[in-house]
Amino acid sequence: MRKQIAAANWKMNCTYQQGEKLLDDILKSKPSLQPQQTVIFAVPFPYLIMASSAVANENNVSVAAQNCYQKKSGAYTGEVSVEMLQSIGIRYCIIGHSERREYFHETNADLAAKTDLLLEMDIRPVFCCGEALEIREAGSQNTWVEQQLQESLFHLPAEKLTRIVIAYEPIWAIGTGKTASAAQAQEMHAFIRGVLAAKYGKEIADEISILYGGSVKAANAKEIFGQPDVDGGLVGGASLQAEEFVSIISALK
Ligand code: G3H
Repeated sequence: MRKQIAAANWKMNCTYQQGEKLLDDILKSKPSLQPQQTVIFAVPFPYLIMASSAVANENNVSVAAQNCYQKKSGAYTGEVSVEMLQSIGIRYCIIGHSERREYFHETNADLAAKTDLLLEMDIRPVFCCGEALEIREAGSQNTWVEQQLQESLFHLPAEKLTRIVIAYEPIWAIGTGKTASAAQAQEMHAFIRGVLAAKYGKEIADEISILYGGSVKAANAKEIFGQPDVDGGLVGGASLQAEEFVSIISALK
């Protein structure tokens, strides 16, 4: 079975002390994970080492960065390189979140460069894609998402593609309380898997975990994660409440 993943994206929330407590509360009460289940905490850069040591003795629990820079090293004040992440043992990194695309003008080409650097350093990208409301209303969401995948990932050989986790996040559902219905999520996830299969073959496409993101909470996680092509979620707001996130973890297949 493909990896089923509950990924917490804290975004720019929590002080260090709040973050430590949140992690502690979740780790104390989370269910024990099945071999196919993984929990990831994408925390702010200054908390990566603290979070890594908090999860060090847990099975199937990892820490992720929320971003990295697309150049190897050099005079890029304020940026964080992939090598820096690798040097502190980080295994996953979110890239291409819609907030980064929108507020920091990240392009599909930037994300292709980030993908390459991450894979070179053996860090698994959690690649975000998804359409804005106008695109969905125009009925162009499939073309939009396909282009995001093509321009950022399709230069990869198959053995590298299987290192990627994809997160489909319809922008209109992020932080809005408006979730895509389970059927809408399944429809897009099946489409993404079909696009991967057309390029890389069904066997490769079937190996790739595709997470859903956008107002996932305890009350809807089971139904969304229960869809055949949905392999867990990338969770923002609800990952900041221990009880909610623990229930979300319990909803994994
Ligand atoms: O990375 C997480 C997504 O942006 C979803 O955020 O769960 O607060 O809607 P949300």
